[in-house]
Amino acid sequence: MRVTRRASFSAAHKLQCDHLSEDDNKRLFGKCYNLHGHNYDLYVSVEGDVDPQTGLVVNFDDLKAIINRIVMARMDHKYLNEDVPELKNCNPTAENIARVIWKWLVVELPTLVEVKLVESENNIVTLTP
Ligand code: NI
Repeated sequence: MRVTRRASFSAAHKLQCDHLSEDDNKRLFGKCYNLHGHNYDLYVSVEGDVDPQTGLVVNFDDLKAIINRIVMARMDHKYLNEDVPELKNCNPTAENIARVIWKWLVVELPTLVEVKLVESENNIVTLTP
């Protein structure tokens, strides 16, 4: 069974590739080249069997605590380009943010099967193994 926990965080970023000129960055990323923020929704899914003793695949409180410690503490109300070392030399697109979150979470959640990051109502990335 698949179990999903949602978490929300706010963060600022600007999209830019260091190897491109300012003009090329502006052309490629448009207004996203300007500093701006998002209210992200993160969906973390794990899979496993339902424990017959508890009726749980995973304790939602445990999942919440792991997400808070690993993701919220490092990304909520941060400037992703500067405050997250893994994103420092790497354009903090939704795609790259999801990759970093996956890399962090899978260490403690070996049954991780999906990281979905909703950057805006219309912009969503989904990462699976
Ligand atoms: Ni953005």
